[in-house]
Amino acid sequence: MKKKIVVLISGRGSNLQAVFNANISGAEIVAVISNRSDAQGLKWAEQHGLTTHVVEHQQYTQREAFDAALMQFIDHYQPDLVLLAGFMRILSPAFCLHYAERLINIHPSLLPAFPGLHTHQRALESGCRVAGCTIHFVTPDLDCGPIIAQGVVTVRDDDTVESLAHRVLQVEHQLLPQAVADFIADKLSIDGNRVRRKDAATEINCLLN
Ligand code: GRF
Repeated sequence: MKKKIVVLISGRGSNLQAVFNANISGAEIVAVISNRSDAQGLKWAEQHGLTTHVVEHQQYTQREAFDAALMQFIDHYQPDLVLLAGFMRILSPAFCLHYAERLINIHPSLLPAFPGLHTHQRALESGCRVAGCTIHFVTPDLDCGPIIAQGVVTVRDDDTVESLAHRVLQVEHQLLPQAVADFIADKLSIDGNRVRRKDAATEINCLLN
């Protein structure tokens, strides 16, 4: 039986597309859920035959109530993996703990540097020579949690937020399907704050210039 993935998005959904297009063996995206009805990625998902739902965060005054509603939708599918692919809401500890070790996020910085928003701008302002993205298991602390993979790009002298974001996104699209495939194939184990590979295979980090 295929392992079930529920993908949460808030916007464009290019990482969702990358995972879908990778056609990961043994896995199936059973639902795409967004907290915004205008998320571009929803349209794309529908056009590709995926089941979509909208759980609008604005309808809830309390974070916990929104998370509880979201959990109901997700749990209906009994997923093996909940993937945060550009999901722009902070999730409550109860949510994170409910999906412990099966909740994965992609973040556009080299964590632990620059958790939160505006990562590329902060990397440029800090004079970083490299930037990148991190794929990690989600724990209740924002943008923390055991790191599965990191992709690195060099920062160019003439980089802008847009150009840097563009190159980092290319790495995200390479790295996320690989990380999801490794999770689905049960190649990852969590040891404290570290992720170890069970098969000692080649590392999946990548460098683009
Ligand atoms: C990506 O940069 C991701 O790292 C961040 O939000 C962005 C989402 O892009 N969390 P997309 O919706 O997957 O195109």
